[in-house]
Amino acid sequence: MTARMIMKLQVTAARLATPDVLHVELVHPLRPELPEWTAGAHVDLRLPDGRVRQYSLCGDPDDRAKYEIAIKREDDGRGGSRWAHEHLKEGVTAHVSSPRNNLPLSETATRYVLVAGGIGITPFVSMARTLAKQNKNFTLHYCARSADNAPLLRELREICGDQLKCWFSREGARFNPQTIGAYQDGTHVYVCGPERLLEAVQASLSDWPEDHVHGEVFQLTLDENFKAEPFEATIASTGERLLVPADRSLLEVLRSSGFVMPSSCELGICGSCECGYRDGIVIHRDKVLSVSKRQDRLMPCVSRARVAVTLDL
Ligand code: FES
Repeated sequence: MTARMIMKLQVTAARLATPDVLHVELVHPLRPELPEWTAGAHVDLRLPDGRVRQYSLCGDPDDRAKYEIAIKREDDGRGGSRWAHEHLKEGVTAHVSSPRNNLPLSETATRYVLVAGGIGITPFVSMARTLAKQNKNFTLHYCARSADNAPLLRELREICGDQLKCWFSREGARFNPQTIGAYQDGTHVYVCGPERLLEAVQASLSDWPEDHVHGEVFQLTLDENFKAEPFEATIASTGERLLVPADRSLLEVLRSSGFVMPSSCELGICGSCECGYRDGIVIHRDKVLSVSKRQDRLMPCVSRARVAVTLDL
């Protein structure tokens, strides 16, 4: 993983898409084109105190002039969205990374099923645009409390037509993952939203090939019962051994031993700090790696090991 470029972008529009979602447009003050991106990508927004938050790009990947993001205000969150709602106004400069895509569209799928919960809709706006332009077979299931609480709904209705299925709980409509149906060759499913939605879809599709069900979590449920234990990390290239105490992350220990490790969310959801390992029993606590990737990759910001692990560093 390499560190990403941070750009100073200018906010050219900031308006409420719903009572608690701010839709922001960003341009480069000097360059007519921003770094290119593909549907499903996100950018990091750097806060003044150095913290970083990830937001999916929800504009048109073919429009290189601007980035669009939508930020849900979480008053009981960690403060990033509150800061964004209070400070991202027209004319303000925002520090934004170049895009990265943890949720790319399959190029070989013949049918796409997209399932969004609330603000988890954001990566699917660009996906729906791309799929519609390519005349692909897709369905977008959008779960929200009501139309008034469903950001970007107007755009999605224009993009998707009758390929958009809305599930508004206040109208008594609830999405049932079994709606997706049995596995058919060529079908890929993408889920984005709260962890419980991802888990419900994954449970319903447990007999599908693992690489046909893709997910991104927007809200984390922390495992309060997890008890961290100390372990030893060996650096494969040098044989150096590092003790990771119970109260520190592997990422922190690597950094304090001189390793330059990129990171962003430090919650196991963005994929920035991904690192290879060779042996050891890893306790994976991230929400971004697939089961097959977990065989030799880990996220040192949250994941740990039982007793010992050898890192590909
Ligand atoms: S920093 Fe985001 S997954 Fe580790």
